[in-house]
Amino acid sequence: MKKLTQAALFSGWLEKTFALKSEQRFWTWKCALGWYLQHGGGTIVETGCQRQTDDWGAGCSTTLFATLLKDHNIGELHSVDITADFLKLAQEVTSNLGIADRLHFHHADGVEFLSNFSQPIHFLYLDSYDWFPNEPRLTECQQHQLRELQAAWPKLSRDAVVLLDDNNLPGGGKTRLSKEYLADQGWVCLLDWQQSVWVRSEQI
Ligand SMILES: C[S@@+](CC[C@H](N)C(=O)[O-])C[C@H]1O[C@@H](n2cnc3c(N)ncnc32)[C@H](O)[C@@H]1O
Repeated sequence: MKKLTQAALFSGWLEKTFALKSEQRFWTWKCALGWYLQHGGGTIVETGCQRQTDDWGAGCSTTLFATLLKDHNIGELHSVDITADFLKLAQEVTSNLGIADRLHFHHADGVEFLSNFSQPIHFLYLDSYDWFPNEPRLTECQQHQLRELQAAWPKLSRDAVVLLDDNNLPGGGKTRLSKEYLADQGWVCLLDWQQSVWVRSEQI
């Protein structure tokens, strides 16, 4: 409870830095980033990098993570995407921050990358693939997110936070299978909105 309260306060960094640009993702970012900071930072892995400058509708996740790391002088980011042009854009929009040594861009499939990743992960953000409302692509995007989660599973640190994007959409969004898996493994959901925030239960 103490951790949750502190995370929710979060010193106002998100609001001060980006105002309310993250809109429907505001509360879940605040919760997940707060948890990460309260537990000392560490390695962030995002699958699905930022595709456009100022793309707040999709999340602007690479800008947000990179700015957080710079402002708090903490941690490093591994950003993975299957599309080389998007990675180039993500690298460009974060290049002015002066922390290139802590930002790593990987041109790869998310599942393959996470299977081969050998460091502990403290913040896992799963946002690769797009959500589709119709089958078979709906199930495909859900299965892909689950495969990424399972590939990352042995590397998640004790206090890791997992943030799933494109939640709360028709058909279960991209997150339906991942959330079932997390719950089955005894993890708990801190906040379920456009994104879904999960941490390990104290009992496991
Ligand atoms: C919804 S966008 C990511 C948005 C970004 N996180 C943001 O906040 O702006 C999804 C991204 O997933 C990438 N992608 C699709 N399939 C992938 C895969 N198998 N592995 C890694 N990335 C993939 C796409 O190239 C695209 O850039």
